[in-house]
Amino acid sequence: MSVTVPRLLGISGSIRKESTNTAILNTLADTLGAKASLTVFSLNDIPLYNSDLEGDALPQPVRALKAAIAACDGLILATPEYNHGMSGVLKNALDWASRPAFASPLKHKPALLMTSSQGYVGGARAHAQMQETLASTLSRVVARPQIVIAGVAQKVVDGRLVDEATLKFCGEAIDDLLTEIRLLQRAAATVR
Ligand code: FNR
Repeated sequence: MSVTVPRLLGISGSIRKESTNTAILNTLADTLGAKASLTVFSLNDIPLYNSDLEGDALPQPVRALKAAIAACDGLILATPEYNHGMSGVLKNALDWASRPAFASPLKHKPALLMTSSQGYVGGARAHAQMQETLASTLSRVVARPQIVIAGVAQKVVDGRLVDEATLKFCGEAIDDLLTEIRLLQRAAATVR
């Protein structure tokens, strides 16, 4: 029996070059070894949502985003908190990816959520909004203690997550995501 390595897709809610959220995803991608692959998708080229552009006129970067989500086994969404919510960049991308409603690439997709910020609560308030949005898309958010990374400027140095405790916690969270992926794949096989 061939064993396929789970393909994870990371999406950062920050498109600035020095983004700590992107740095965290890039660091985690290098820690996974043989247990999974993690590709980070850049939202730089995603335009603002416009339903006039659905269908044949769908912008190419949005096509690429939806194809990448459809092809992956699980998502890791990492976002800064902006005014107690996820970034508009991430919300906009999720809005594109959520179409058609209830039948989009996000439907039944396992998803792990993380926030990071220099603030004391590490973006904890953005989690609630992400949970709501992903519930609307019928994604399967991994139920586990939240990944909130506070004081992130001290934990990301030269574009790498260097804080050992945070690396360990994120590693355990990714293990939970991989377990969720396996459980859902087994469950899907029994109902085919
Ligand atoms: C912020 N930031 C912020 N931080 C926080 O903990 N709670 C908040 O509500 C906000 N609000 C907010 C609004 C706006 C418009 C900006 C620009 C910033 C700080 C922000 O989350 C922090 O700088 C992140 O670390 C940025 O993430 P990246 O870009 O490094 O990934």
